[in-house]
Amino acid sequence: MQVQDSVALVTGANRGIGKAFVEALIQAGATRIYATARNVEALREVVMIAPDRITPIALDITQPNQIAAVVRQTQDVNLLINNAGVAGTGGLFTSDSIGTAEWEMQTNYFGTLRMMQAFAPVLKQNQGGAIVNVLSIVSVVNVPIFASYSASKAALNSITQAARAELSAQNTQVIGVFPGPVDTAMSTGVPLDKVAPIRVAQLTLQALENTIEDVYPDPIAEQVFSELQKPLKTLEKQFATMLP
Ligand SMILES: NC(=O)c1ccc[n+]([C@@H]2O[C@H](COP(=O)([O-])OP(=O)(O)OC[C@H]3O[C@@H](n4cnc5c(N)ncnc54)[C@H](OP(=O)(O)O)[C@@H]3O)[C@@H](O)[C@H]2O)c1
Repeated sequence: MQVQDSVALVTGANRGIGKAFVEALIQAGATRIYATARNVEALREVVMIAPDRITPIALDITQPNQIAAVVRQTQDVNLLINNAGVAGTGGLFTSDSIGTAEWEMQTNYFGTLRMMQAFAPVLKQNQGGAIVNVLSIVSVVNVPIFASYSASKAALNSITQAARAELSAQNTQVIGVFPGPVDTAMSTGVPLDKVAPIRVAQLTLQALENTIEDVYPDPIAEQVFSELQKPLKTLEKQFATMLP
């Protein structure tokens, strides 16, 4: 997949990593970008990046009717970037934890699933294209300060793998992005080094062009990933000793 001359749709494009994806897509030569956000007025600054190539559209990914309307307007999309997401706080054992968990699942899991379902036929008609799902490093191991958010991203990680398998027949590339802390409103109060959102977006687009399925775009994500590989390496070495 080449980003140059692609037609992309980005969810949650009004700020944070979504806005950075729009910038990176412009830098990389995308022909058209549908920048979507719940509040279309919030996209004014984003459109100013390249008014001739960026089309603002209202889209709340938890609203099936809005998704259907957007699909009708964007039949030329060949790169879907599922970036929109929410994160609550407060732990599992508080009075509002069920409500928080439902909100996160409705947005991060069901919202993204609905987007993939709605756009799979569009991507198919446009030579397959690609889907980028912005997950999180907390999708591979639960970080209890974000307990139910971690669970919603773990669920999304799981169906990202399934979508990759199901959509390979129509030649759709499916990329998972696993950031650690990124310097956006979502990570306010997280006392860790944070990577710039533009770095996440640029590395993801490079990964897409290099057919890399899993993107670990910052040092913390890379470190967690390498820790997770250790048991595999131990097993690999153990099995290696079985050779005569
Ligand atoms: N920041 C981090 O440390 C970090 C790390 C790993 C992964 N991520 C993931 O990166 C993605 C982007 O987050 P961010 O860091 O850029 O945070 P952010 O600044 O809070 O942006 C979140 C974006 O998602 C949008 N959004 C929320 N609910 C939506 C819905 N129902 N429909 C459409 N858009 C919706 C927000 O729109 P409004 O402006 O309307 O609220 C906003 O544009 C998320 O999926 C997040 O989980 C972030």
